[in-house]
This record gives sequence, C-alpha cells and structure tokens, in this order.
Amino acid sequence: MLSNSIANQHIHAQYGGVVPELASRAHLQNIVPVIDVALKQANVLPDMLSAIAFTRGPGLLGSLLVGVTFAKTMAMCLNIPLVEVNHMQAHVLAHFIKKPGEKKHFPEFPFICLTVSGGHTQLVLVNNFLTMEIIGQTIDDAAGEAFDKAAKLMGLPYPGGPLIDKLAKNGNIHAYKFSKPNIPDLNYSFSGLKTSILYFLRDQSTINPDFTEQHKADLCASIQHTITEILSDKLLKAINKYRVKDVAIAGGVSANTYLRQYFTVLSQKKGFNLFIPPFEYCTDNAAMIAMAGYYKFLNKEFCSQDISPLARMPF
Ligand code: KG4
Ligand code: ZN
Repeated sequence: MLSNSIANQHIHAQYGGVVPELASRAHLQNIVPVIDVALKQANVLPDMLSAIAFTRGPGLLGSLLVGVTFAKTMAMCLNIPLVEVNHMQAHVLAHFIKKPGEKKHFPEFPFICLTVSGGHTQLVLVNNFLTMEIIGQTIDDAAGEAFDKAAKLMGLPYPGGPLIDKLAKNGNIHAYKFSKPNIPDLNYSFSGLKTSILYFLRDQSTINPDFTEQHKADLCASIQHTITEILSDKLLKAINKYRVKDVAIAGGVSANTYLRQYFTVLSQKKGFNLFIPPFEYCTDNAAMIAMAGYYKFLNKEFCSQDISPLARMPF
C-alpha cells in the first residue's frame, strides 16, 4: 500500500444521516483532488499504473456512479484494464493490506470474517482471496445501523458509532439490560434492539425528561455491550460449526474500542487467532478496494467499458 487517501463528508452530520444526493455531489467535488493526492503521496505517475480498480457496489447508486464513470474514463485514457470490486469482499481483504517493508501476520485460509458495517452484517467463510461465501447475515438492520439509530434516539449526531464508542468509556456496561434477538442459524437481527431502546427511553423520559442526557455514558456502554454480545454469540456458533482457527473482523464497526477488546479477550478464552485491521482500514477506504483489485488483477479478472454500478450486488 503506497497511499490511502480519503475525503471525509462532514455534510451528513447536519442532517442526521447520509443524504444520497449530497453524498454523490460531494463525491463529484472530491474525486479529482483525492486521486491527485493519492498519486502524489504514492510517488506514482498515471502512466506507471497497470490497472484501475473501482467499487461497483453495493452502495448508494449516485456515489457509485461517480466512481465507476471516473474509473472507466481513467482506464480508457491510460489504455489499461479495469477491475470491478465488490465493496463487501474488499472489507474482508482489508486484512491483507501491507505497507512496503512492513512485516505482518495474515489470517490463514479458510477463515471466518465477521463484516460489520453501516449497511451490512455478514459472517463470511473465506476460502481464498477470491472465493468466499456468506454463511450468515442480518435479516433487518446492520450492526452499524444499530449504533447509528441508537445514537439518534439519544439525540447524538450522525454517524453515531464513533460517538457511542467515546461516551461509553465512562459508562457501566451492566447499567441497563436490552433484549437480544432469538434468530435461527447464523443470522442476525438488530431491529428489535432499536425498538427496545426506543420504548425504554420513552418510558424513562416520562418520569424524568432529562433521563437520556443524565445517563448517556451508561446508556452508550450498555447498548454497545449488547450489540457486541449479539455479534459474538453467532460468531462463536460459526467458529464451532466450521471449525476454523483463524477469525477476522472487518467493516466500520470493527473500529469500536470495546468490541476490539471484547473479541480479543474472547479469542484468548476460546483459543482462536483474532485479526482486526488497523483503524484506518476498518471504515471505508481506498486501500481495501485496491487490495481486492490486486488479487483479481493477478487472476486477470477484468471488466469491460460497458459496466455499470450496482446498488445491490450479489456477493
Ligand atoms: O464500513 P463503513 O465505513 O461504511 C459502510 O460500508 O457502511 O461503516 C460505517 C459504520 C457506521 O454505521 C458507523 O457508525 C460505524 O461504522 N462505526 C462505528 C465506529 N466507527 C464507525 N461503530 C461503532 N464504533 C466505532 N468506533
Ligand atoms: Zn463499507
């Protein structure tokens, strides 16, 4: 990895969530300067590139369209191949990002990856760089969505995950008990948790209108603990079922401090090897797309100029 340039979109905090049209306009404004910075930091000239990898999906169509169109144009101008990447597979392959000269331990195949992002919660059985299968996933909200929606109910701005992480540091994880779902197989559900938080806060605020404000740290710690337990229950079930030794966590929610500690302790207790990417490769980033693109490039999996983005994309 030579450079990993990211443009943050602070615009969304003002609206309590991602507004798709604003996101795509921000992409349009940012894409040229970000690529310029990425190339300069990497000390690479455009004519030194061998291929262009881009995110085809899943994601917001307007934003994907900006990236896909730019990638196609750049590949055409440079006369080099195009490589389409699935965003969720890229989160898994973030575990293999390495800086020049860096010594790193990688998960060994087959391993299980729990991918927890704002839009997805997936248990993935990874057989090799390009062959992976979903063995469990959420039937409603994603784990990141659970963080964001819980934060919204507490009056916190978007994205709520990092803020809950921060506030929870001063809270008691056992202060409040929220219900955990009872879903069969290796699937997840987070919509019930959101509803139980909603009713709990509503009931408490009728007794004390300042309840949420006065108990924010305990609420954050308890909610974060519940989400982490829900995630770990099914992960342990998957490890037992598939008998893997190596386990990875990926996606924006894997940046969560408490979750990282909890899973580290769990791995020591249960005897599996845990892999968590550095913070900068947990939330959406360019390096993970390049990583997935690299393995597809080695396999000569190129795509044509008539490719279009997919808001929903098969794994
Ligand atoms: O993977 P990601 O960057 O984007 C998607 O592909 O969705 O994940 C974003 C999600 C958001 O829901 C955000 O609240 C959550 O990751 N997130 C966190 C933390 N950092 C980001 N959730 C909990 N704790 C964090 N520290
Ligand atoms: Zn993502």
